[in-house]
Amino acid sequence: MSISKEVKRVTTHVLQAMKDSGEKISMLTAYDYSMARILDSAGIDVLLVGDSASNVMAGHETTLPITLDQMIYHASSVIRGVQRALVVVDLPFGSYQGNSKEALTASIRIMKESGAHGVKLEGGSEVKESVSRILSAGIPVMGHLGLTPQSIYKFGTYVVRATSIEEADKLLEDARMLEELGCFSIVLEKIPSSLARKVAKEVKIPIIGIGAGPDVDGQVLVVHDMLGINKEFKPRFLRRYMNLFDEISEAVGRYIEDIKTGDFPSKEESYDPPIKG
Ligand code: KIV
Repeated sequence: MSISKEVKRVTTHVLQAMKDSGEKISMLTAYDYSMARILDSAGIDVLLVGDSASNVMAGHETTLPITLDQMIYHASSVIRGVQRALVVVDLPFGSYQGNSKEALTASIRIMKESGAHGVKLEGGSEVKESVSRILSAGIPVMGHLGLTPQSIYKFGTYVVRATSIEEADKLLEDARMLEELGCFSIVLEKIPSSLARKVAKEVKIPIIGIGAGPDVDGQVLVVHDMLGINKEFKPRFLRRYMNLFDEISEAVGRYIEDIKTGDFPSKEESYDPPIKG
């Protein structure tokens, strides 16, 4: 999609200015061109090409199976649909935990091959070297603390995180570390609201919450969840704005009925030019 001159792009600096002025940041996931176009034209500030694509696009139980090539495919499709939003791409499981050189190589591939504006990765002190190395190449990095789905087999459940003093202290320290390293923002997933409030107050970069209460600088949801495409997932933090599963089922039911009864296609929906010769 070509850049229209009138559209003022959202950059990491714009997000910082939003936090500084108290304007909340809106963020959703996107994985394809058509949805990205709709979300961007509706005015979303940030689009996350999340590794949740592994769940909602590919039907896997966890985010672990998705590959770097698949993330780049989704990210390139999203980028083609966006004129204004900042597009951030998840580094998939296995692409940054091994060593910082691999992390940088994966991030460079994402930036070069998709045209995205930054990367996101999960974890704090454990991934410090990777974060520093990616940042040293001039690539904007968003952190992700609290519930980190790529570590699901370590934790065993998707329950609220950082509910002990030790875990809460570590999370706050990790957030401070990510800020000092130069990350432009941090996602906090499924943690107590009081802790998220404290992080958003003490850390000066934008804090985006998902299940982290209202006192942070912005909110993110998985688009399939908020549009009700996915009926089974009903965590307390999710607000559904549509019931697309039912609406699409109903429309497809009518389409099937119209075919079976011969109602579709009508004369007006058919071509009937005289056949020459
Ligand atoms: O992959 C994803 O969708 C995410 C959001 C839940 C923040 O990381």
